[in-house]
Amino acid sequence: MRAPMPSTPRHPNALVQLLREAQAAQGWLPRPWLATLAHELGLTLAQVEGVASFYRFLHLQPVGRYHILFSDNITDRMLGSEALMAELCERLKVKPGEVRGDGRVSIAPASCTGLGDQGPALLVNHHQVVTRLDAARIARIAELVEAEVPAAQWPAEWSAVEDQVRRPDVLLGCTLRPGEALAAALARGPQRTLDEVQRSNLRGRGGAGFATGTKWELCRKATGEARVVVCNADEGEPGTFKDRVLLTRHADEVIEGMTIAAFAIGATQGFVYLRGEYRYLLEPLEAVLQRRREAGLLGAGILGRSGFDFDIAIHLGAGAYVCGEESALIESLEGHRGTPRIRPPFPVEHGYLGRPTSVNNVETFCAAAHIALNGGAWWAAIGTPKSTGTKIHSISGDCARPGLYEYPFGTRVETMLIDCGARDTQAVQVGGPSGTCLSVSEFGRRICFEDVPTAGALMVFDRSRDMFEVARNFAHFFAHESCGFCTPCRVGTALVARRMDKLAAGRGSRHDVEVLYELDTLMHGATHCGLGGAACNPLRDTIAKFRPAYERRLKSLHFEPAFDLDAELAEARAATGRDDPAAHLEPTHE
Ligand SMILES: Cc1cc2nc3c(=O)[nH]c(=O)nc-3n(C[C@H](O)[C@H](O)[C@H](O)COP(=O)(O)O)c2cc1C
Ligand code: SF4
Repeated sequence: MRAPMPSTPRHPNALVQLLREAQAAQGWLPRPWLATLAHELGLTLAQVEGVASFYRFLHLQPVGRYHILFSDNITDRMLGSEALMAELCERLKVKPGEVRGDGRVSIAPASCTGLGDQGPALLVNHHQVVTRLDAARIARIAELVEAEVPAAQWPAEWSAVEDQVRRPDVLLGCTLRPGEALAAALARGPQRTLDEVQRSNLRGRGGAGFATGTKWELCRKATGEARVVVCNADEGEPGTFKDRVLLTRHADEVIEGMTIAAFAIGATQGFVYLRGEYRYLLEPLEAVLQRRREAGLLGAGILGRSGFDFDIAIHLGAGAYVCGEESALIESLEGHRGTPRIRPPFPVEHGYLGRPTSVNNVETFCAAAHIALNGGAWWAAIGTPKSTGTKIHSISGDCARPGLYEYPFGTRVETMLIDCGARDTQAVQVGGPSGTCLSVSEFGRRICFEDVPTAGALMVFDRSRDMFEVARNFAHFFAHESCGFCTPCRVGTALVARRMDKLAAGRGSRHDVEVLYELDTLMHGATHCGLGGAACNPLRDTIAKFRPAYERRLKSLHFEPAFDLDAELAEARAATGRDDPAAHLEPTHE
């Protein structure tokens, strides 16, 4: 058996792409294919299998010819996704996570697919979405699968992804003419373009809020040739979908922002790292790149400027949330497992293939294009002193008008709730599961780096919702997405999910709640990357603010633990080289 010959360069750095393309032919990756690919790339079979086994969208075992993944974010659940999945399983006579005997269909839950404003949603064969699921749609899907109608021939309106821009401001409300911001940057020159971005005080929109001008300057000054610009379009934080809309409606501005970054930094190569769940955006984005090449806005001698050569390739992710972390993303770009790197050195000094690399969020690049055109002072006049400009929010959950809302930084949560038609709200989760859960008394707080920072998700929960179940869904998300590299996160996220399940089953005691607190403390200081560090955020917030939701579930107030938790974590301490008091759990006696 031979693997098909895809168009991607056959080089070890393209391994993830080659595996995706090989899999497209048959739906999974038989061993002989992997062996052929390994031989061709000069790798061992173990290396290729090691990479393939890391990514959830790559399969070393057969899946159904219709492989159906239900988005399992809490907002999908609130819209009935669990019952709809059970209904489809029942109709098609297949158990979740298994392949039907005739090999036709498999059905499973998956992390958020980035369609929180039009859920419940599912993905067929990793590339076709179906939004706004309901009982009628599920019944029809079952018929189409039984009749073996290819997914591409299912009703087109099912796959129509709506943009739902509800409150545009300077980014969403304005479309730049391709090349106009770039021309302004070229007229200024690289150093003054950089100065302008620094004057704007633009901070990265991917979550950490690092100053974009500083990052670009560090990259420009780093020793090394062939600098690289990467657009982080992994958008895996549950509840976030703003980058999806920017890449659909404002792709030119995003690509223009990347080109301006390349000009300021002196980069020659660019990548868009597009999450696998957004496969349907690949062809439209390729078309934008091609159009820009033909217009002299990408490629050799951009806008006639000799020596300014920069082009961009799109790399598709393969279903791994951790690949949004910039060093894991770079590993994935190089054809490896998406394991976060030890830092320093940071990507600006030692990134893709060891070259200075600036990784920025989609929205950051879009903002940079507007800043190049309108100037840094214009941007700095919007928002607050430490959080300049606007921020785009993906709003979903219990509200009448889910979708995208762009506000100047500093806007109060209560304003956003009024605008999106939220009623009787008991909580909002700002910034996705990694972010902050706010209760009613905090709705006067402002969204900005000085108060409540965000990467762009805002999920609304009304009083009918059980905040314990919200936290349990998030706990399972982190346990599912932990890459397993470091023990505190691998073990800790699994222990948290297990304790939450125990409480949900009504078998928990106050001791379990205390252990959850302790796990939070332990993981905060000891994990290798931000995923593990943030994994207990929802837990900590909901225990503190919605404690009755936990206490309702306690079977007894007294409980002797059946095992020694501190001893279980000895491996974690050894892995992180820690044995200080903070790395130990105090035994809890009640
Ligand atoms: C687990 C994890 C997932 C992340 N996912 C994303 C993501 O999907 N998109 C993103 O832009 N940044 C993500 N980040 C942040 C990136 O590591 C990085 O800070 C960001 O891409 C830098 O861009 P910015 O400076 O424009 O914000 C993630 C970080 C962690 C720890
Ligand atoms: S914290 Fe979690 S996701 Fe990050 S490296 Fe450790 S195991 Fe992997």
